[in-house]
Amino acid sequence: MKDSAPIDALPQPQGHGNARKLIWLALVLAVGSGVHFALQGIIQSGDAEMRKGPDLARLEKMESTDPARAVRVRAGMVKYESSCRLCHHRLGIGGKFTPAIAGRPEDWVITMLEVYRSGSQVGPLTNLMAPWAAELSDEDIGNLAAYISTL
Ligand code: HEC
Repeated sequence: MKDSAPIDALPQPQGHGNARKLIWLALVLAVGSGVHFALQGIIQSGDAEMRKGPDLARLEKMESTDPARAVRVRAGMVKYESSCRLCHHRLGIGGKFTPAIAGRPEDWVITMLEVYRSGSQVGPLTNLMAPWAAELSDEDIGNLAAYISTL
């Protein structure tokens, strides 16, 4: 009767399986953190400036000298921080593959964003930029232009 015991009732080699699990865990952690740092490097280009926030002091000053404009600039800043900063840098100075836009006149920024929003091909990397412009309202574009012109 003992001979017919099912195969999985027999004692299994334990240590081997656990060691393999640990190796996998270490591998996943190593690859994971490697990818994390590589992405961080690409996005932030090792630039300490990139990790800072926007220049709030300047905005606060504008809030007392030109409050109406400051409202648009602040709205543009919020949008810029969430949709544009990743590619165009905190200061609008661009990156390896993205153009600098800091300090460009409002009219120019408005025209460019409308062109991208319309789906027209502009430069070789239009496909990267166009989806971000596509979701902007006229109001967003005006606010972004106000903010970018102050960078
Ligand atoms: C995924 C990266 C990415 C994001 C996010 C992004 N852009 Fe761009 N942007 C680009 C690239 C790349 C170009 C150049 C495209 C081309 O070759 O036509 C560009 C071009 C531009 C230009 C024209 C610059 C020039 O010199 O012709 C403006 C203005 C601009 N972006 C503003 C913005 C604003 C405002 C946002 C946020 C709503 C934004 N971008 C989000 C990548 C991005």
